[in-house]
Amino acid sequence: MRMTVIGTGYVGVVHAACMADIGHDVLGVDIDEERIAALTAGHAPIYEPGLNALLARTVKSGRLRFSTSTTEATRFARLHFVCVGTPQVPGGEAADIRHVDAAVDGMAPHLQPGSLIVGKSTVPVGTTARLAARLRAVAPHSEIAWNPEFLREGFAVADTRRPERIVVGVESRRAEATLRAIYKPMLISGVPFFSTDPATAELVKVASNAFLATKISFINAMAEVCDATGADVVTLAEAVGQDSRIGHRFLQPGLGFGGSCFPKDIRAFAARAEELGVGDTMAFLHQVDEINTRQRRRTVDLARNLVGGSFTDRHIAVLGAAFKPESDDVRDSPALDVAAAIRRLGAEVRVHDPEAVDNARRKYPGLQYTLDVPKACEDADLVLHLTAWPEYREISPAELGPVVRSRKILDARDTLDAASWQSAGWTLSALGRPR
Ligand code: UGA
Repeated sequence: MRMTVIGTGYVGVVHAACMADIGHDVLGVDIDEERIAALTAGHAPIYEPGLNALLARTVKSGRLRFSTSTTEATRFARLHFVCVGTPQVPGGEAADIRHVDAAVDGMAPHLQPGSLIVGKSTVPVGTTARLAARLRAVAPHSEIAWNPEFLREGFAVADTRRPERIVVGVESRRAEATLRAIYKPMLISGVPFFSTDPATAELVKVASNAFLATKISFINAMAEVCDATGADVVTLAEAVGQDSRIGHRFLQPGLGFGGSCFPKDIRAFAARAEELGVGDTMAFLHQVDEINTRQRRRTVDLARNLVGGSFTDRHIAVLGAAFKPESDDVRDSPALDVAAAIRRLGAEVRVHDPEAVDNARRKYPGLQYTLDVPKACEDADLVLHLTAWPEYREISPAELGPVVRSRKILDARDTLDAASWQSAGWTLSALGRPR
């Protein structure tokens, strides 16, 4: 089938490439000319395992093309996926859906009769209904559906190829049939398909992210309780997660969640609930957010204590800048936030990250960056482990020892092997673990 994908950010570029890979003819559209030029040459705008190879293959096959023209998009196909960003409104908590509105409004007057617009962006519940009313006025023979995306950064290609579920919020059987046909290769391999009303589909997305964020903040709240009692949150999480009703995933304690989704999605959900008159019910999400940001402050406070109460003239090594491992994304990165706060408090901060240094430098030019772990740790009074890249678990504490000024490490991700660091003469401190 022919389709366009409007917006070539994380979701859009991966969706476009995966759709082309399963045999559809896809036109990716974005207003960013530089991005479109790079994509046309087969270069992914983001670091994502498997994406460059997939892009190169699908662009070469001719099934994936890119353009900056909305008019070309409406001429090319009757099916349009909208994958534009929905950031937080400047200075507020709600989602800014300007780009979604603009994408739909831009296409509406030019749509071929019988077109279907399918939103994939994360939006406040009620958005599809609002846009459907607008669309009816301008393009009465076209319709809109919502099909939320659940991919994780770092696993975007794999998650899109083999999703755990496909959810579509539709207003007609025809829209459902179109989406079933699009996703046929996934459905044949047994992926559950939920066809529901648009409001439920929109809510499935925000409810999933809110639940996962709550699970993380729950275990981080437990870490604070552990700190107050001398208990060990890592063992606690392992034992609690053993209950199959709870499970181990997203129960990893530490510095908490960041990125472009969880923080803004829970704030937008709470704001939307307020508008709908159910703000009290969802008020716990403010607490989830507060527990999460408190982990960053607690990490800064613990680091300050470990260097004697003041950061002045201290050298701090930071391992990790990305908001999570296997990603070069630094949007709302807890690691960079902590690094920048410590720098503001007077320390000299050298940051290592295997993938995110360029993005980090653009965001916080005041920090020093390196691609070499020993260099980051040279003469350090304290090493901070802030993003759980697997390679940090491979560091030899014995070899790193002579490089630093003081063998102190703060494991803010609770993933390092404490015994091996301690036996090499290091003092390892961690959130929620006995000190
Ligand atoms: C998240 C969801 O997992 C996806 O399903 C969803 O599609 C996506 O948001 C989105 O809404 O677009 P993502 O932000 O890529 O995906 O990253 P996650 O792997 O979910 O991690 C989010 C944050 O939680 C990271 O900062 C990570 O370090 C943190 N985290 C995760 C923890 O602190 N503890 C855990 O146990 C798990």
